[in-house]
Formats: sequence, C-alpha cells, structure tokens
Amino acid sequence: MRILAIETSCDETALALLEAGGGLKAPKFKIIKNIVASQAAIHAHWGGVVPNLAKREHLKNLPIVFRQIFNDKFPISNFEKNPKFKIKNSKFKIDAIAVTVGPGLEPALWTGVNFAKKIRKNDFPKAKLVGANHLEGHLYSFLLSQKNVNSKTKIRNSKIFPAVQLVASGGHTILILMKSLTNFRKLGETRDDAVGEAFDKVARLLKLPYPGGPEIEKLAAQGDPNAISFPKPMINAKNYDFSFSGLKTAVLYYLRDHPRAKKADVAASFQKAAIDTLVSKTLRAAKEFKAKSIILSGGVAANQNLRREFRLFCRKLSINFLSADKKFQTDNAAIIAVAAYIQYCQKKKRILRAQANLNL
Ligand code: KG4
Ligand code: ZN
Repeated sequence: MRILAIETSCDETALALLEAGGGLKAPKFKIIKNIVASQAAIHAHWGGVVPNLAKREHLKNLPIVFRQIFNDKFPISNFEKNPKFKIKNSKFKIDAIAVTVGPGLEPALWTGVNFAKKIRKNDFPKAKLVGANHLEGHLYSFLLSQKNVNSKTKIRNSKIFPAVQLVASGGHTILILMKSLTNFRKLGETRDDAVGEAFDKVARLLKLPYPGGPEIEKLAAQGDPNAISFPKPMINAKNYDFSFSGLKTAVLYYLRDHPRAKKADVAASFQKAAIDTLVSKTLRAAKEFKAKSIILSGGVAANQNLRREFRLFCRKLSINFLSADKKFQTDNAAIIAVAAYIQYCQKKKRILRAQANLNL
C-alpha cells in the first residue's frame, strides 16, 4: 500500500511517501520521498521549542512540503494556479494518509491532523486516514535500517526477538522488551529529564545552540571524556529506570566552580556519563532477558559514540545490533508511515485528534 505520512509533533514539518507491504511477518518498505523541513534555526533563538511558533511554522510549511513531495509528478504550478487542483491520475493513488496524533506539542499536532483531513477531502478522498503514535514511529524505525529494508526474511526467520530496545529522544528515554514486533512491554523509563533534554540543557549551559545533541557531540570530539568524573545517576540501581536531571545539575555546579574549564572536556565528560548510563542499563536488560538483539532509536540514537558503543558490545555478546540510519533517528515522517502500517496490519485504530500525552 502507498502511504503518505505527516509528522508535526515538535519542530520538524515532515512528509514522506512510502510503499509498504509484507504484513507483520515480513514488513517491507520502499521510500519514495522523505522530506524534513526543520524549524530548529527559528527556535534556536529562544533556546528551545516554542509551541505557538512551531504551530505557525507548520501551517506555513505543510503546503510547501506537500507540493515538494509531488513536485516531480505534478508541476507546482498546478497547485498554485488552482488551489482546488485534484490529483486524479490513479498512478498517484494514495491508500492511506498517516498522521502523528501524539505525543507532542498540542498546537503543533493539531496542524498535522487538520492538514491530513484537508488533503484527504481535497486530494485523496479514497485514502484511509490513520492516526499514528510518534513513539511507535521511533520503536519501529529499525525496520528502515539498510539491512532490513527489502529483506523479507529478516523479521520472519532471523533471530531478532526477544529484543531489548532503547528509545532515547528529546522527550523520552524508555527501555522496552520486545517479544515480537507487536508484543512488547516497558522495562523502565526516565524519572525526570529525557536524555536528549539533558543534552539540550547542557548545551545551553555551554552556550551552544539548540538542538544541543549534535553540538555537544561535535565539541566532545575535541575533548577528553575522562577529564571530569560526572555522576551516572541510577546506573547501579536494580531497576531499569533512568534519571538525567542530576547529571545536568552536576554540570551546572562544575561550570560554576570551574569558570575556566575547557568546554570540550565538559562536553566529552558529560557525553560519556550519559552514554555509559544508557549502555550499561540496556546491556543488563539484554543479558537478563537473553535478548537476541539490541535495538536503538530516537534522536539521541543519531549520536555516533552511542552507536559505536552499542555495536561493540553487541559484537562481543554475539547478538544483533539494529538501528536505522542516522537520518531516520531524528524526527521524520518515514517512521510515522512505518508505525501506521504496523498499526494498520493489527487493525488498531486511533482517534484523529491531538493527544499530547499519548504513550506506548
Ligand atoms: O527524536 P527527536 O528528533 O525528537 C523527539 O521526539 O524528542 O529527538 C530530538 C533529541 C534532541 O534532544 C536532540 O538534542 C537529540 O535528540 N539529538 C542528539 C543528537 N542528535 C539529536 N543527542 C545526542 N547526540 C546527537 N548526535
Ligand atoms: Zn521523536
């Protein structure tokens, strides 16, 4: 089936066009187009995402990105000359319009939901509207990893499950035990800040621009990760929960007490403390539940150091390491199409309204 997906939960206006097939046993995806219009530069000025600004930008960007998606097939002029221009050619049939309904910023989510309803009415009246969970987008993003795309047998035959998945983003840090693609449960999650949020806050302390994750990673490459010993909260706790606000506060106090500290060392040492915590807990879960794979997802999974650590440990343990390409870790609509497809295969439905606090 051909899916047009829309993602507007935070500060990326993203649309993607995918072909999906194979069902739950052998899901397979072909990306036709995947466009992300980032508002990061606009929010950077405020040091974080401003919900109403995000809404305004989504409203402006959605029609532009929509046209870009179909640009090759329909000259932009068609839309501009006639806003009621209808896509009639069956070659461009869309079977489903997937849209993120949550979690995220409520005003931002509504722009996507309303846009999905509008284009369905105007352009694709036969398409099904599918509300998708943003977290399931991250959860199933590994299905877009190069090794898995187009390999039907991978999910069916290979020894992927049980798997332990770490979803590490700007809003969430969750450890999940997956017995199959659709049978999963949370093992633990953060009790305060998400790890991506900690990267963003520490970046602010270091006067680096938003979003902070990639900036910290860049600066850390020039620093010594062993220069400062920052706390690794809850690393030895027997549960699978996380806590990152203490680490952020430790950086705050360190900078206050050492105004001449080398910023690169602070970034590198902070990054090491955060990564060590994530890796240690995930590995412990993988061992306890005899996981055949570790799966990594969410914006923080774009961090090369984190990916390297996981790859290394998985090789040592002779288990799979599964994670989509870097570009599918930070928010995009391709992962929303994947989540919508998996949900559609299960015949699950979601109400088409913004659900800011939706969970897994
Ligand atoms: O998944 P995502 O794009 O949005 C949410 O659903 O939250 O994640 C964004 C988060 C931000 O906190 C950002 O700083 C972080 O992911 N991030 C990174 C890196 N790239 C993005 N954190 C560490 N290293 C990176 N390279
Ligand atoms: Zn996300």
